Amino acid sequence: MTQDELKALVGLEALKYVRRGVVIGVGTGSTVNHFIKALGSHEELCKGIKGAVSSSVATTKLLKELGVDVLETDQVEELSIYIDGADEIDHSGYMIKGGGAALTREKIVASMALEFICIADETKLVNKLGRFPLPVEIIPMAEANIARKFEALGGKAKLRLKDNKPLVTDNGQNILDVMGLSIDDPLAFESMVNQWPGVVTVGVFANQRASKCLLATSEGVKTLNFVQRSMG
Ligand code: A5P
Repeated sequence: MTQDELKALVGLEALKYVRRGVVIGVGTGSTVNHFIKALGSHEELCKGIKGAVSSSVATTKLLKELGVDVLETDQVEELSIYIDGADEIDHSGYMIKGGGAALTREKIVASMALEFICIADETKLVNKLGRFPLPVEIIPMAEANIARKFEALGGKAKLRLKDNKPLVTDNGQNILDVMGLSIDDPLAFESMVNQWPGVVTVGVFANQRASKCLLATSEGVKTLNFVQRSMG
């Protein structure tokens, strides 16, 4: 099976967790796009949900095309589930996210959900986070200072470009991708980087870790259950 076929498989599997009458949180990326497509092909379910809170402009567009009511975060108190992909996920449900530059809104929406269902293909499962360059959304004037801080940790930060210009996120900020990190303690690492001035969001999802991962493998979808998470 190709990686895209695995993504499609797990996108379809995630439909089993969508209940009629509830508002769901929806992430961003190619795996989530498969989930949205699968939702669209199950008309009754698609029309049956009360709405969705979206994590990006791109996801909002796709949901609206299906006729899903896209709600703002202030219209919803909590979400029963949040469905999103990951760039890496470890055996405790800690993740690296942000390959699609939507990490800040993803973390906000994830923090509102009782359950984070990560949908991923088997290439994303790692023993330790850090192989995938870590995305960090930053305020542009802090770039050099933050890059030096990562260098002191053994990392190499590079400003993400699009069409030869710094990529601008949905929040009007930039992204640094940091290579060469080995993240032993995701919770401590997330807390530390979050406190650096100019960091908007670090792409380690430790406080907002997954509660479950639907992992697509060539033998089918495996369900990895992690410890229950509390909201916030
Ligand atoms: C978007 O910013 C990311 O967090 C995605 O969830 C992550 O990059 C996974 O993307 P794919 O599903 O495209 O691999």
